[in-house]
Amino acid sequence: MCGEPSSESLGQPPGAERIAVYPGSFDPLTNGHVDIIMRGVRIFDRIIVAILLNQEKVPLFSVEERVATAREVFRSQARVEVDTFDGLLVDYARRRGAHVIVRGLRAISDFEYEFQMALMNRRLMPDLETVFMMPAESYTYISSRLIREVFALGGPISGLVPETVEARLREKRSAGDLKP
Ligand code: PNS
Repeated sequence: MCGEPSSESLGQPPGAERIAVYPGSFDPLTNGHVDIIMRGVRIFDRIIVAILLNQEKVPLFSVEERVATAREVFRSQARVEVDTFDGLLVDYARRRGAHVIVRGLRAISDFEYEFQMALMNRRLMPDLETVFMMPAESYTYISSRLIREVFALGGPISGLVPETVEARLREKRSAGDLKP
């Protein structure tokens, strides 16, 4: 029973590509996200980093900037794809032939929101499974919101985000676009 999920156990025909969607805002991408994606690569044949378009809140980075950053970070990972999506996540997953949604769980505080989403998504698409993955302990306290706030106030964030993200944050701060 233990070990990697087989394609059969995910409701797919044997031998089918195991595709997982890792959805989120990624504003910005953190090393916690990168850690989860690299864990996902070990389990699934393909992991699609799906960046949500049209969020309620105004993002710091445009969707184009977030897509470009993620593609740069994962340029050497052939099994990581970066895409955008709109509308219901389950519809996107169905269109892409994915049978799994990957979400990171950092702490108990994440659980309630994640539990609600996972069960709603299960109701909407029963054969789409949500798989929770824990990042390395050193990333359990970081979030995109904290990164934006600490950096805007002049705090160091190296080691917590990919270098390209830090460089882009620096540009935003110099342009006066990064406000605490
Ligand atoms: O990283 P985030 O911002 O917590 O990601 C939230 C996300 C993108 C996973 C969630 O908002 C989502 O799936 N939005 C798409 C619309 C949708 O399907 N809503 C119902 C979810 S149960």
